[in-house]
Amino acid sequence: CGIVGYTGSRAAMPIILEGLKKLEYRGYDSAGITTISDRNTHSLKSAGKLIELERQLANQHLPGTCGIGHTRWATHGKPTTENAHPHHSGSIALVHNGIIENYQQLKKSLQEKGYTFASQTDTEVVAHLIHSHYQGDLVKATVRAIEQLHGAYSLLVADSNTPGTLICIKHQSPLVLGLGTDENYVASDIPAILSETREFIFLEDGDMAVVSSAQYQVFADGQEVERPVKTVSWSPAAAEKDGYKHFMLKEIHEQPRAVRDTLRGKFFAGKVVLSDLRLQPNEISDIKRIILVACGTSWHAAMVGKYYLEKYTRIPTEVDIASEYRYRQKIIDSGTLVIPVSQSGETADTLAALKEAKTMGAKVLCICNVMDSSIPRESHGVLYTNAGPEIGVASTKAFTTQLAALYLMTLYLAQERNQLTPEQVADKIVDLEAIPAAMESVLQDGERYARFAERYHNYTDFLFLGRSYNLPIALEGALKLKEISYIHAEGYASGEMKHGPIALIDENMPVVVIATPSEVHEKVLSNMEEVMARKGRVIAISTNSTAVEAVADTFIVPEVPEEFSPMVNVIPTQFIAYYISDFKGCDVDQPRNLAKSVTVE
Ligand code: G6P
Repeated sequence: CGIVGYTGSRAAMPIILEGLKKLEYRGYDSAGITTISDRNTHSLKSAGKLIELERQLANQHLPGTCGIGHTRWATHGKPTTENAHPHHSGSIALVHNGIIENYQQLKKSLQEKGYTFASQTDTEVVAHLIHSHYQGDLVKATVRAIEQLHGAYSLLVADSNTPGTLICIKHQSPLVLGLGTDENYVASDIPAILSETREFIFLEDGDMAVVSSAQYQVFADGQEVERPVKTVSWSPAAAEKDGYKHFMLKEIHEQPRAVRDTLRGKFFAGKVVLSDLRLQPNEISDIKRIILVACGTSWHAAMVGKYYLEKYTRIPTEVDIASEYRYRQKIIDSGTLVIPVSQSGETADTLAALKEAKTMGAKVLCICNVMDSSIPRESHGVLYTNAGPEIGVASTKAFTTQLAALYLMTLYLAQERNQLTPEQVADKIVDLEAIPAAMESVLQDGERYARFAERYHNYTDFLFLGRSYNLPIALEGALKLKEISYIHAEGYASGEMKHGPIALIDENMPVVVIATPSEVHEKVLSNMEEVMARKGRVIAISTNSTAVEAVADTFIVPEVPEEFSPMVNVIPTQFIAYYISDFKGCDVDQPRNLAKSVTVE
């Protein structure tokens, strides 16, 4: 879900609405805004996408220079207008991200006190709870209420009795303050208010901030604390579509730039320098085992990372889905390095896996895209991907930059452990720096994929096959197609196909095979023959059209060293998903039921 708040001297509603538009990728099943003026709350909520709310706002003015807004991804209660935030209790209005785990008990006791509930949400409980403690001082009432809450929550509270003041609570769900001149902002994510300010305060878990137009105060454990003001380098244009039809298409095209930004400043005199990892030489030599944890697309990137790390550092490396790993009987000691990989830095399962591992004594170094988000903050060190804000729900540039970051981390560890000579490291840096140009050449083929989509959009099942470094790309290609075009797709290790999926193959099941040169190239070609022998329709991603004759379609990509091929080969799979989704008229940037950052379990 997304949160935006404003207090200042301008009309609050348009600023909040604009902010919510930038955050719609966070959740888009319902939305609402409450403003305060003349000691009254003015509220409008709507089920459906933000455009619904915007339509209704055209006929209903919400006056006031202070207000709060929310775009929702349902957890408790269906996506109806009643369940949309803000929720109200008397003079109090609030929006919430996260889940209140003990809301049933709280609700019961509030009902016993006479409160009636207009929604099925856990959030409304908090509004009434604050109200039940309210004796004219909103801060005191909020503090008493949160003492009773269990779970994860970020809250933004307004009170028509104290117009112009907003109260923010951050607890395991992101919240930032944006600073202006005689006006201030609150948001769950930076892009919401990037067009208004670049000065941010990143609240820490347990912080409460009291914000008005002229000032802000942050409290931790009841004491006022100083939190540093940070300037964010993302440009406001980065959160705009910039002439592209969709954010996803823009972000696909941004990949060469994004990878260059990931690599920038990491090489010095032929060496890899990763100072933000804050690793001491003895800590590097002590690493005995590496565990990569992540969800979704980031998990696929982590799978490629395992190949990199094992090849060059020779440290046994595992990859696990964060939601599995967090509940596993983990084996961790002081020689264990855990690497969480996350675009948002807020994914609840990845964050929980990290915390568990840290508590058990692991060293934690994360790969993340969002500065100062929860995962980097909880980690001992961080390698930022610098992809810029990723708005499309289906991840693209975050993925390729994660691959670049994983390679950088691998080179760094191998270099510091003397497993690669300085010459080898320098050569690899040269190869890596050439990859963005190779990616650029694939991007010029967009039109071909559009025509392909016309021919293939009616198929109901796809199979994606790959081996070695490109097995995760097959998984990622299938995930992308599922996510945004709602076509059933499976990714499979091509060598494993004959142990099951081969039974599915006929002329109605297109099979996308990643068949670029590799140590296992001949084997991939044999797997492809096996598909064609069963009348399967093969679509090859290849460096050479003649090597794989008799296939139905070939998408040509430039030849790069095998270990970098995932960064190039994933682009055709992104295009396939994108153009099929667009051809089918699906909502590319905001596919049904999904959210960009999943901050609940
Ligand atoms: C959600 C998003 C995916 C993303 C995954 C992990 O499912 O829709 O695109 O890969 O979360 O997110 P993270 O921010 O941790 O990379």
